[in-house]
Amino acid sequence: MPDDSAFKPAVGSVADAALTGLLQERKTLPAKLFYDEAGCRLFGRITELPEYYLTRTERALLAAVAPRVATAVRGPAVLVEYGASDEAKAEVLLGTNIFNAYVPIDVAAPQLEQMRARLRQDRPELLVCLVPADFMDVAALPTEVPQLPRLGFFPGSTIGNLDPPEARRFLQRARQALGRDSWFLVGVDLRKDPAILLPAYHDAQGVTAAFNRNLLVRLNREAAANFDIGAFAHQALWNDTASRIEMHLVSLADQQVRLAGHVIRFSRGETIHTENSYKYDAERFAALAEDAGWHCAELWTDPARLFSLHLLEPRQGP
Ligand code: TRP
Repeated sequence: MPDDSAFKPAVGSVADAALTGLLQERKTLPAKLFYDEAGCRLFGRITELPEYYLTRTERALLAAVAPRVATAVRGPAVLVEYGASDEAKAEVLLGTNIFNAYVPIDVAAPQLEQMRARLRQDRPELLVCLVPADFMDVAALPTEVPQLPRLGFFPGSTIGNLDPPEARRFLQRARQALGRDSWFLVGVDLRKDPAILLPAYHDAQGVTAAFNRNLLVRLNREAAANFDIGAFAHQALWNDTASRIEMHLVSLADQQVRLAGHVIRFSRGETIHTENSYKYDAERFAALAEDAGWHCAELWTDPARLFSLHLLEPRQGP
C-alpha cells in the first residue's frame, strides 16, 4: 500500500521494477537490476573466485570442444550469442574460422559498440550485426544477418537463471529466431553436491554478498530508497526439490524502508528473494530442450562433471 499516494516523486523504471517485487507477500527483486556498473564489476570478480568453478570450467570445456562444434556445424555459418557482454567466450568459437558473421544480442548497447570496435581491429573480415535487446524478446534476427547456417550460443549457465517454463519459452523462441538450418550451444551447470554448489554462491571473501547487497545500494541511489545496507545479510541456500540455488537478502531486524514514496516493512528474518540458479541433470536438460523443439545432438562435460555444454539441433518431425 502506498503511504502517501497523493504525492509520489517521479520514479523511473528501476523504482517501478523494484516496487512490483517488494510489495508482494513474498518479497522479490528482479535479477536484471544486478547489472549496473558496480554490479558488472563485482560479477567479473565472482567469475574469478576460487569457489566459483563455473566460468573457468566452461572456458576450458569450450576450448576443448570448439573444434568438434566446428566439425558439426561446418560453415560458413553465423554465430548468434544470447547475452553477450563481451566477446571473450565467442572468441573461442570465432577462432575456428567457420564464421562469416557474429550477432551479439545484449541489453547493454554501449558494450555492444565496444565489442564491434574491438572486433573491427582483430577480425576485420568478420561481419558484426549488433542486436541491442533483451535476449528473451528476440523472435527474429535482423534482415542483414546472412542466410547461412546459424549457431546460437548461450553460455554461462544463464539458462539456469530462468524458471524451467521460462527456459522452455526462451528455447522455443530461439528455435524460431535461428531457423531450420541451425544449432544451439548451451552452457548448463550440473546438479551436484551442495557442498560444492553453496560456496560458489557464498564465497569466503564476500564478493557474492557485496554483489547481492549492491541491489540495495543501487535502489538507494536510483529509486529514492533508504535501505540500511548493513541491516541485510546475504544468504544462499540449496532448494533440493526445485533443484536450484536461491539467493536472498535477509532482514536482520524489524525495520521500515522508504522507496519512491512507499514504505516497505520487514520483519526480522524475512527475506527478499533476489535470484535463482537452477541446476540440471544432463537428462533433465535434454528433456526440456526436446519440449522446446530441439534435440540434443552432443553433450560434453568436464572430467569432474561439474558443467555441461549441450549442442542442440532442431527436432525433426511435427
Ligand atoms: N548465471 C550466474 C549463475 O547463476 C549468475 C550469478 C552468479 C549470480 N553468482 C550470482 C546471480 C549471485 C545472482 C547472485 O551462476
